[in-house]
Amino acid sequence: MSNKTIRNLFLAAACLAAAACGGPKRPSTVGTTPEVERRVEQILAQMTLAEKIGQMNQVSADGGVDNYAEAVRRGQIGSVLNVVDPEKINEMQRIAMEESRLAIPLLVGRDVIHGFHTVFPIPLGLAATFDPALVEEGARVAAVEATAQGVRWTFSPMLDIARDPRWGRMAEGSGEDTWLDARMGEAMVRGYQGAQWDTTAMAACIKHFVGYGAAEGGRDYNSTFLTENQLRNVYLPPFEAAVKAGALTLMTSFNDNDGVPSTGNRFIVKDILRDEWGFDGLVVTDWNSMGEMVSHGYGADRREVARQALDAGVDMDMMTFGFITHLEELVRAGEVRESAIDDAVRNILRVKILLGLFEHPYVDAAAAETVQYAPEHLDAARRTAEESAVLLKNDGVLPLDAGRVRTILVTGPMADAPHDQLGTWSFDGQKQHTVTPLAALRERFPGRVIYVPGLKDSREQRARFDDVVAAARRADVVLAFLGEEAILSGEAHSLADLNLKGSQSELLAALQATGKPVVATVMAGRPLTVERDLPHCGAMLYSFHPGTMGGPALANLIFGDATPSGKTPVTFLRTVGQVPMYYSHNMTGRPYRGEKLLDEIGPEAGQTSLGNTSYYLDYGAYPLFPFGYGLSYTTFAYTEPSLDKAVYGRDDVVRAACTLTNTGARPGTEVVQVYVRDLVGSFTRPVKELKHFERVALQPGESRRVEVEIPVSALAFWGADGTKKVEPGDFQLWLAGDSASGEPLAFKVE
Ligand code: GLC
Repeated sequence: MSNKTIRNLFLAAACLAAAACGGPKRPSTVGTTPEVERRVEQILAQMTLAEKIGQMNQVSADGGVDNYAEAVRRGQIGSVLNVVDPEKINEMQRIAMEESRLAIPLLVGRDVIHGFHTVFPIPLGLAATFDPALVEEGARVAAVEATAQGVRWTFSPMLDIARDPRWGRMAEGSGEDTWLDARMGEAMVRGYQGAQWDTTAMAACIKHFVGYGAAEGGRDYNSTFLTENQLRNVYLPPFEAAVKAGALTLMTSFNDNDGVPSTGNRFIVKDILRDEWGFDGLVVTDWNSMGEMVSHGYGADRREVARQALDAGVDMDMMTFGFITHLEELVRAGEVRESAIDDAVRNILRVKILLGLFEHPYVDAAAAETVQYAPEHLDAARRTAEESAVLLKNDGVLPLDAGRVRTILVTGPMADAPHDQLGTWSFDGQKQHTVTPLAALRERFPGRVIYVPGLKDSREQRARFDDVVAAARRADVVLAFLGEEAILSGEAHSLADLNLKGSQSELLAALQATGKPVVATVMAGRPLTVERDLPHCGAMLYSFHPGTMGGPALANLIFGDATPSGKTPVTFLRTVGQVPMYYSHNMTGRPYRGEKLLDEIGPEAGQTSLGNTSYYLDYGAYPLFPFGYGLSYTTFAYTEPSLDKAVYGRDDVVRAACTLTNTGARPGTEVVQVYVRDLVGSFTRPVKELKHFERVALQPGESRRVEVEIPVSALAFWGADGTKKVEPGDFQLWLAGDSASGEPLAFKVE
């Protein structure tokens, strides 16, 4: 009998014992109370089987509210998505509350992924801030705006670890790292749901459970082949953290992992999410992901996949209509127990009661408008866009001195792209509210800005740039805004070539050839391969689609009113052929050392190879920029690293410290990162893993002793015996400004 089976039997026995003797059930992850549970049972007891199944049915109302009025009246719909008009939402709620038999309110969902009307940077940009408090603030803004219109459920945060930038949905997550992803997910859950259940509380939905970002080939919806080791040690921890943060709902993913589609995967939904973690929130499928199990070849027809999804622990069906069509007959046929439906409906009712929907099903449609785009919301979006930008290169051209720069050429396809600047999944962002870099710079420097786009969009092919070159000759500085349109990232938008599209690189080269100082700003939904562009600009600022206030934010950064502090949340590759490349890789038996390329080790160089180690003959083994990298307008020095002990017990706390000094002439904020390596384990362990980060603001010349605490328990991992624990042995710890810097400190755990 496998360890996993033994563990599951133990867990099941413990749960039965607790339930049977009326002992305390497991603590609720969503914060339910005896009163809430009483109400759940009281409503459930009144429901017919058909009404129970109706609660498990979610439909998209973008086809028009009237299409579903009768179904709502009959109690055949528990939730709607894609309606944001407060009047329409009120009308659907009125039908549910006044014309249906049990007056159960609808749960209204929407993809509020990085802002509602006020659009923040895409989640990959949010992660680049390494500032959970700021990200939480932005999620709270999104909740205030969305709930004012009647949206009480967002399908966010996306917690999919992504290590393949070909995958377009990398834009929607927090990048490649487990620790960063978990902290960002917690922050968004807190921000969306708020500190108490009031009418601005918006249920978070952690997604896509699980492993979706590991799609083979970076092609969206493709299969994944993650082992339990990878699931447990890389992909599941952010979800567990978000469950512990109180996430009310979770969404299953499209992918089949190791042959099992997530929406029918009992092991991850029942065994891990429910039984191990005790999640008592609501599990919803992704859009028709139940139906797609037929395409996967996992179920013969919609009736079978409906049964499989319910058996796996799914509560609500998004747009397959599998539950509403087949569950009642499956119960009659004895293939599904009504008690399983009762459990699903309990989870749904629990979320609705916690949100206060029974007491407050309606919104004040007239007042809804007043909170949209509030000045404080726009200010939060600007601050976030400033912190999310990553300075990749600066030969000293930045920050520009507004007093010395007279004429500014603004060019490039992203200089004035109000829709694309919002990035993917910004359904409700209104481009007329977007402030583009061109608009911001014209407002700030009236009469001093020349605008010549150079290219109408990122894909335009163009042989000559006479107009732009002529304009550059008249300017003191050239600001080129490049990148990719919003549509080139996001769902179903994977790319096999990550270079700047069209003739953007040629445009940059033509600008640089004029001899004028050139600042390149790249707005994109993923880390593009920009190595060939770096020589053609004095500075490169990377802005993951910065949202509504991207223009003012970038203008402030370029002219020094704000100082870049963003760090790369994903590895930047030299070429797409290096995929997948991420910092927390395994050591392998042939670790790569040295940095020589093909032209340095060919036969004429007298060497044939660098030994049989893990690298590329033509592109080496290192990325263009590592995870956690980002420059500032100042510099920082890490000195005097120390640990408070050399040997720690399992219950100890590792107290690490260093002196951080601002060695430059401008104020700046550094993201101090703490990485740990477990040198020997029952599974081979990554060369390092992020275990802490914090932002430290310093004035020029200022030094500060930075002291961090890493509980030894944070070094636990799921090992070969199927348990999660800290294994004794040797460890190393780095305090550094990115994942490739610093010298390790050694310590032991007994
Ligand atoms: C989409 C996405 C999911 C989204 C849902 C509703 O297909 O995969 O992230 O929340 O459908 O729009």
